[in-house]
Amino acid sequence: MADNILEISNLTKTYPGVVALDNISLSVRRGEVHAVIGENGAGKSTLIKSITGAIVPDQGVISFDGKEYSHLNPKLSAEIGIGVIYQEFNLVPALSVAENVFLGNYTGNGVTVDFKDMNDKAREAMRRIGIELNPQRPVSELTVGHQQIVEITRSLVKDVKLLIMDEPTAPLTNNEVEELYKIINALKEQGITIIFISHRLEEIFDLADRVSVMRDGRYVTTLEIPNSSTQELIQHMVGRELNKTFPERKKPLGEEILRVEDLTGNGVKDISFSLRRGEILGFSGLLGCGRTETMQVLYGAAKKKSGHVYLHGEEVKIKSTHDALERGIGLIPEDRKRNGVFLDMTIKWNTSIGCLRKKLVKWGVIVNEKQETVLALEYITKLRTKTPGMEQLVANLSGGNQQKVVVAKVMATDAEIMIFDEPTRGIDVGAKQEMYSLIREMVDTGKAVIMISSEMEEVMGLSDRIVVLCEGRQMGTLEREEFNQEKILTLASGIAM
Ligand SMILES: Nc1ncnc2c1ncn2[C@@H]1O[C@H](COP(=O)(O)OP(=O)(O)OP(=O)(O)O)[C@@H](O)[C@H]1O
Ligand SMILES: [Mg+2]
Repeated sequence: MADNILEISNLTKTYPGVVALDNISLSVRRGEVHAVIGENGAGKSTLIKSITGAIVPDQGVISFDGKEYSHLNPKLSAEIGIGVIYQEFNLVPALSVAENVFLGNYTGNGVTVDFKDMNDKAREAMRRIGIELNPQRPVSELTVGHQQIVEITRSLVKDVKLLIMDEPTAPLTNNEVEELYKIINALKEQGITIIFISHRLEEIFDLADRVSVMRDGRYVTTLEIPNSSTQELIQHMVGRELNKTFPERKKPLGEEILRVEDLTGNGVKDISFSLRRGEILGFSGLLGCGRTETMQVLYGAAKKKSGHVYLHGEEVKIKSTHDALERGIGLIPEDRKRNGVFLDMTIKWNTSIGCLRKKLVKWGVIVNEKQETVLALEYITKLRTKTPGMEQLVANLSGGNQQKVVVAKVMATDAEIMIFDEPTRGIDVGAKQEMYSLIREMVDTGKAVIMISSEMEEVMGLSDRIVVLCEGRQMGTLEREEFNQEKILTLASGIAM
């Protein structure tokens, strides 16, 4: 029999109207990298939170390292060697790396803190995974990748046996992902077991020994990675055949509706492009290359230093996001928690908030409630948002389903020009296809889309042209016939062609 470090038996967790976990049983072998996959809302994060004791399941037993637990809590799970890295980091920016690593567990004699000891121990722990990072640096200065390393180190100094990561690669740049691969392999070599969640199937094949699939709160199967294929994983995950092609354009491009000349703002300089009716214009580049900043300036969310913007041939000054919306420009932001939705409000409320004035208000005050309901339902269906109903608070949705509400909110405004900043981050394979179809449908009805995406396949599959940026400068604009991954990457790394 295999030596299992973790055995979960009959785990169930329900919320009003939702069975988040439905009698799940699953085991994880000591020393393996075990991936967990499933559609948005399948119950992956809920499973993780049950293992770490962040939530209390209704029923079920967890045995860890040979001992059975019916009630875990975060403190106990940390003590017995379970570490976790959630998507939202738990760091204090003003404190140093070492202080964050030992947060709540400062070493010393009880009266004074032994900073040297903490620095040494943090440095030593990071060395174990091949990282040289100054323990005295404030966390506020670190990149996202390094912040994640601080989180990992925090588990390491507690002698973690099982490290769980919920979508760890989602916020990382390609280079950082590679570094994380190395770290995961180093952890594995030291006998630490890893569970990780990801929507990017290629990562599962790169990293995992086995993968467990969840669907609708239920356990589907566990597969050995060397004996499985992407197709098979998708089939188990979505329970249906998935047509992984990009929807083709049905209408020819129309007239130019937007022209941007020499747009300059914080972090971007002299960006010029045009956008035609019916077009999808992709923006590619490495993380931090200025794509988001360009759009923020265009959208009136960041200050424009110089440059010109023409809508339908007429120069316009967009001074605020309100201005942008009034002129028919919508933006689906990258950081949904901060800019996207109101978590404490319902799906219905969030879907209609952006278009209230335009569509739903009669005689200045009365909201057309019936239409509001129709609108919310329409997007729940179109985007396959998993929820017991439109009155559900967004805070109670899974990560990917929250992202769908952000998309719905902006799409519902019917803006003529829609800017999508990483629209499918955290979205499962099936829902991605739905989103591609929706974007295509939008442009086929005469709208135009600007799409920032770090996923090469997506940006190449959907765009008519691609603008490539590097360090705030425009490196080139490629026509569809010229698309090729190598070319884009070369431009993105600043090598002019
Ligand atoms: N606090 C809560 N209240 C009500 N429902 C909840 C709560 N937390 C989670 N759920 C529901 O439980 C289900 C499982 O959610 P979970 O976050 O585990 O999904 P997930 O597999 O992690 O999805 P994603 O890939 O989108 O992150 C979802 O339908 C979600 O809406
Ligand atoms: Mg999740």
